[in-house]
Amino acid sequence: MKTLPLLKLLDLLAESKEEAKELKEILTILSLTGEEVPELIEALEIKAKELLLQDLNFPPPRADMLGSEGLIIGIEENTGLPFFWEEPKKSCLIMGSIGSGKTNLALNLIHQLVEKGVTVWIFDRRKDYWPLIRSLEGTHLIPWRELRFNVLFPPEGVGHEVWLGKVAEAFCHTYDLLTGSKSLFEEVLFIVWQEADREGRIPTFVDVYERFSRKDYVPVRTALDPQYRSRILDRLRPILRKAGSILACERGFDLISLSECGRAVIFDVSLEEQFRDFLILTLMWHIWCYRNENAGTYSPLVFVLDEARYTLRERRGSLEHYILDIDQLITGSRPFNMGFIICEQVPSQLSRAIVDNTQLKVAFNTQAHEIPHVARIMGLSREQADVLRSLEVGECIAVLAGSRCSIPVLLRIPLYSGCGDRIPREEAENAIRETIEELGWDWDEQEEEFRQGLPEEEFELLKEVAKDPFRSLSEYITALKTTKRRFYTTLSRLIEKKLLKTSKVNPGKGRPRKLLELTERGIHVLRREIPDAEIKPLHGGVAHAFWIEELKRSLSPRHKVEVCKALHSGRIPDLLVDGTLAIEVEASANVRYDLEKYKEILKEIPHLLIAVEEANCEGLLEELEKALKKGLTPEERSRVKILKVQELLKEFG
Ligand SMILES: Nc1ncnc2c1ncn2[C@@H]1O[C@H](COP(=O)(O)OP(=O)(O)OP(=O)(O)O)[C@@H](O)[C@H]1O
Ligand SMILES: [Mg+2]
Repeated sequence: MKTLPLLKLLDLLAESKEEAKELKEILTILSLTGEEVPELIEALEIKAKELLLQDLNFPPPRADMLGSEGLIIGIEENTGLPFFWEEPKKSCLIMGSIGSGKTNLALNLIHQLVEKGVTVWIFDRRKDYWPLIRSLEGTHLIPWRELRFNVLFPPEGVGHEVWLGKVAEAFCHTYDLLTGSKSLFEEVLFIVWQEADREGRIPTFVDVYERFSRKDYVPVRTALDPQYRSRILDRLRPILRKAGSILACERGFDLISLSECGRAVIFDVSLEEQFRDFLILTLMWHIWCYRNENAGTYSPLVFVLDEARYTLRERRGSLEHYILDIDQLITGSRPFNMGFIICEQVPSQLSRAIVDNTQLKVAFNTQAHEIPHVARIMGLSREQADVLRSLEVGECIAVLAGSRCSIPVLLRIPLYSGCGDRIPREEAENAIRETIEELGWDWDEQEEEFRQGLPEEEFELLKEVAKDPFRSLSEYITALKTTKRRFYTTLSRLIEKKLLKTSKVNPGKGRPRKLLELTERGIHVLRREIPDAEIKPLHGGVAHAFWIEELKRSLSPRHKVEVCKALHSGRIPDLLVDGTLAIEVEASANVRYDLEKYKEILKEIPHLLIAVEEANCEGLLEELEKALKKGLTPEERSRVKILKVQELLKEFG
């Protein structure tokens, strides 16, 4: 049987502190005089029974602690009364294990916020928030493929120097680059900006990539380690390959209007991890910088982040490695009327800034190893922390740090209608279309531009190239049943429009051959027209892919050949032959060698062959010789061979 100290009972019986004091005085007098007051005893008995049925670890709070305005978080378990939160811009941290009810609470909060006229931007990784489309009219949805965001274009009123600095910061934070790479990245952003400015246009990420991969590229600060460049290139390549169409627009969507629209905006960010975090960060910075630089009244905006540890993770290491000022983003948001709802399964990995700067803290059922962290964050006693493990789905403990309810209370969260439902894309299609039209981005007009300028035969050629990129030009002419002359006119038009590009390969007989390849823009145009168009992924460009195919074909009968096999280090040699020979093909005009990669391969694989396509990479053979001599130890060097790729083919053939 649970027992309660008498004085605590009095505290709980009284409506206020004063009343509790009075009651205590009365009881003291009564005990001295020996008088009996049956009404008081009865009231105490009733209260005691009630309390004994309740959770002693979380005694019922006084009514004034629960609040009476703002958002309803949930229902207090002991009293059945609603628990309120007045200040969403003071941010909220929702913790709990998988499936414990975090998203359900966030959905409840979002709905109430939007009803109060607050704009809520949700960064949704798993379509968990799509049910809002059904239940909350006017909800916007932007699947990431549909997003148009030129990250280099500064928000209105923000100087490009400030903005490009932020972009570099976000990039290096998400891609784990240190300060050296950041300086280089920032400098290149500036150069690209100036170059484009001179030509009267706005640069995009494509310009940044091109600048980094140019043959005549010279690091701006000659003292900088050349490895910085290859590290940055390694990260830029996949971004451009997978997400180029998002970034390769001059201006993109009007994000400022979107931050003031008074609706829920779901950014479907179900894409590759690091790029996703880069995107989320720059989207938030965009609004932050806009509000920071433009005085005015700011309409309320709340960001919802699931698994915030990825986007806003704390970097361990020396101070100079802290590139992103998470503190600034979070605390600095409040004056601009912005808040955060942060959901996290593993709060021990969250940045301290988040823990320190969130007012409402909620803990759902928690895994054993996270309990000490959660208990610390919430200020729970040992007995209270034990309860964390046995909470049911939808049950949680809440505390308002430094506010009226700084003692933890036990809440039950109502189930949000549609939580957990999977909404099919067809149903969401309307929301997508409306969003994009409201943003002043007329797809049809944009596409019309392409379509009008894209006659049937140009379109057909794009399709053919996507289907099989390794054909010779004459093979395309045959496939398209056209004449040489018409074909070349079509080709040069597509190249002019930057929808196609060419590379050369020299298979050894006769003159080098030209290969065609779709640009990011070309892929985009084709995808919009034929959403399920089969487009062969070409890692490292068409010439590179061509040689890997050729080498694989000539080696396969006699050797075990693996393509795209990751080594322990995570490095992926182009080809791995019988597990003992790695082959790296350097064949793309804009890609140079990566010494770091060679060294890492040599740690695991006895022999390395570097095969160079000279038709595209003029002068690379000599350059490589020198670089290897300088960058490898003599022992390492003895295990590396550099060859023209045609010679290699002959050797195997
Ligand atoms: N308050 C609640 N009452 C009843 N059922 C609930 C409640 N909250 C959540 N559920 C149920 O549990 C399921 C998982 O909840 P939810 O998606 O909110 O968990 P989560 O903590 O966000 O999980 P994850 O860690 O996977 O993101 C929901 O689909 C819903 O069916
Ligand atoms: Mg969730």
